[in-house]
Amino acid sequence: MTSKWKRSERVQIAVQKSGRLTEHSLALLTRCGLRLTQGADELLAVAENMPVDVLLVRDDEIPGLVREGACDLGIVGLNVAEEQRLGLESGQPAPGSIRSLAFGDCRLAMAYPRDGEAQKVSDLEGLRIASSYPRLTGRFLTESGVNAEVVPFSGAVELAPRLGRAEAICDLVSSGKTLAANQLREGETVLESRATLLLSPVELPAARKDWVDLLRRRMDGVMQAREAKYIMLHAPRAALPVIAELLPGSEAPTIMPLEGREDRVAVHAVCRESVFWETLEALKDAGASSVLVLPVEKMLE
Ligand code: PRP
Ligand code: ZN
Repeated sequence: MTSKWKRSERVQIAVQKSGRLTEHSLALLTRCGLRLTQGADELLAVAENMPVDVLLVRDDEIPGLVREGACDLGIVGLNVAEEQRLGLESGQPAPGSIRSLAFGDCRLAMAYPRDGEAQKVSDLEGLRIASSYPRLTGRFLTESGVNAEVVPFSGAVELAPRLGRAEAICDLVSSGKTLAANQLREGETVLESRATLLLSPVELPAARKDWVDLLRRRMDGVMQAREAKYIMLHAPRAALPVIAELLPGSEAPTIMPLEGREDRVAVHAVCRESVFWETLEALKDAGASSVLVLPVEKMLE
């Protein structure tokens, strides 16, 4: 194995072992340039080309590992990070959530049995709510001015009402299929969540900090490139001001002459915002032709 780097230099990143964030998290790291090889036990993926180890762990272990400095970075849902943050004693440093990662969108929401006595939070006075997010649930109830008992559950929360353990639940919802399959109706949103990058509050040795900073910059680049598009088109010279206005989030387009054409030019631009069909249609109406939209693979600013 690579011994080019000292142990103290190696960055440890915690990622969910198997679940909704796993595939996207590993894909993001790959797009940041890591060549990962997975160990036989599959709990550790070692980068061949950089001093980085990826630890595959249960998602609720990630905030703790990052807080204690066992891992320098972690990728986890905001729901998990927030639940754990609420459990810290005052003054205990929390891992900083330093970047939203634009995948793993879901929400923590209240849900009520379709035929149950409670259908909204104000109906829950004196009743029981099952959740694997007891602290976020408790905070939501307090903020709603409702006195109710939170029953901590570690799995299969959606079965709690049927088991007679609660009159409502508070759980993660993504597609809503799990709720529907259990005759539950989604209610109030408690927290909007997506994957987030956590940074350890523990101070790092200088060499490792440089690698952490490099990874952070590359993640920024990957996130920006996701939205960015490269547009090429031909346009009447006279329409250039209108066309430049229409290009979403681009600064200075490149204008090039077209061989044998005095009246038309080629325009190339990097658009930093999503390019929708409507934009292309508006460009065409302004006189553009041969419009091409290309994905941007990488971006460094
Ligand atoms: C969540 C939640 C539901 C399911 C909802 O579990 O607890 O079981 O996803 O998704 P749906 O709305 O698309 O049906 P998660 O995948 O986070 O696993 P975990 O709670 O075991 O970590
Ligand atoms: Zn779950």
